[in-house]
Amino acid sequence: MGVAAEVDRVLDGTKSRTGGVARVFLQGRPSRMLIVGADDHDADDETKLAEFRRDARAAAMAVAGLDVADATLCVDDFDAGGADGYWKTRTALAAISHAAYRFTPYKSTKPAAPKLRRVAVLSRQRAKIRQAVGHSQALDDGLTLAKDLGNQPPNVCNPSFLAREARRLSRGIGNVTTTVLDEKKMAELGMGAFLSVTRGSATPGKMIIVNYNGGNRGDKPVVLIGKGITFDTGGINIKSSAGMDEMKWDMCGAASVLGAMKAAIAAQLPVNLIVVAAAAENMPGSRASRPSDIVTTMSGQTVEIMNTDAEGRLVLCDALTYAKRFKPAAVVDIATLTGAQVVALGSQASALYANDDDLANSLASAGDETGDRMWRMPLWDDYQSALDSAFADMKNVGGGRAAGSIVAACFLSRFAKDFPWAHLDIAGSAYVGGKGSTGRPLPALFEFLVNVAS
Ligand code: BES
Ligand code: MN
Ligand code: ZN
Repeated sequence: MGVAAEVDRVLDGTKSRTGGVARVFLQGRPSRMLIVGADDHDADDETKLAEFRRDARAAAMAVAGLDVADATLCVDDFDAGGADGYWKTRTALAAISHAAYRFTPYKSTKPAAPKLRRVAVLSRQRAKIRQAVGHSQALDDGLTLAKDLGNQPPNVCNPSFLAREARRLSRGIGNVTTTVLDEKKMAELGMGAFLSVTRGSATPGKMIIVNYNGGNRGDKPVVLIGKGITFDTGGINIKSSAGMDEMKWDMCGAASVLGAMKAAIAAQLPVNLIVVAAAAENMPGSRASRPSDIVTTMSGQTVEIMNTDAEGRLVLCDALTYAKRFKPAAVVDIATLTGAQVVALGSQASALYANDDDLANSLASAGDETGDRMWRMPLWDDYQSALDSAFADMKNVGGGRAAGSIVAACFLSRFAKDFPWAHLDIAGSAYVGGKGSTGRPLPALFEFLVNVAS
């Protein structure tokens, strides 16, 4: 390496004590070096991990802003609260992939995109780092798919579009198959709840299943189910106009499970994984469901639809019943399910519900590892009575605004009695209104799958 010349300018963080990135010009190759300012204060490990994450983001933003195609990452000697090289590499590469993401297919004049094409990692721990790079690359592939699907406008990204994207995942790959159930098939299966949601739309609903046999034959699969409402008007209980555009992101659960599939395939994870995207559009119309309609779910339980805007749980309950046939090791559903989740936890954490403590703990720690947080919420029976109906086995909503995210989870729990199950309400974490998809909770889901595989 050439002689360090002068510091050009501090790109970021001059006001804060840490998180600063300085750019240094060198003679020869490489020609530039970014030095990330770490703080050597006495902090607990968790603080140091958070600081590393923050510093990695600052450095990644700086790299993505440079006019360079190649970069080399050196994290071996960076103290991050005892974190190993694998974690530091994963975290730094995740930051770069975040900083470099753009979605511009509909811009006639493309804004300048980051030039960065290749990131090398300089390390003394070859094998571990090779694995970290492989996992990072696979997750980046999955996240790009998940974010792109979320950001697509709803006139393009409808249930059939998601089905085509799912078919692409299995094309030419021997151990991956895609199955798409159309409305006729769903009627035969008795999916009356799902079908009640899609009735008002001219665009037919699809139940999309992708099956990846990466593990041993006979190993029970992990099943991930995603809410795929490609646009949620609310139906006859129509939403107010303010912010309705954000309901194009109501398929982010489906996007995250398709992204998880893409990442698992790319990483060749030794797991059996099945993802299900419950894809439908929730529209008002002369054929749409009415408040007080009663439908029979695939499970046989009847539901009085008191609010057509509580449609996510209606498509998900039939997907949960369908998942039983896979004899799953665990089922996790992911859904932008309630505004109440945003009130409770904001965008910082997804709400986690589970009928199984081990599953809940595995998911929560995968969230902590990746900075893709989730927080466990109660599923106590005390909340179930909110769903009592005078005319059917249950209503699809509780009486009022109290505990909306919990009551929605209670509804789903009635369809998940036969397997370890968790539910992630990601209404606040899946996207940033007016900006774009975050891809969450895919980082945590991928970490969870990596841990299941090992
Ligand atoms: N897709 C919405 C939830 C949502 C709200 C996601 C805000 C992202 C941001 C869901 O289908 C919905 O409309 N939920 C209702 C449920 C209510 C009718 C019980 C809600 O949260 O208001
Ligand atoms: Mn809704
Ligand atoms: Zn919705």
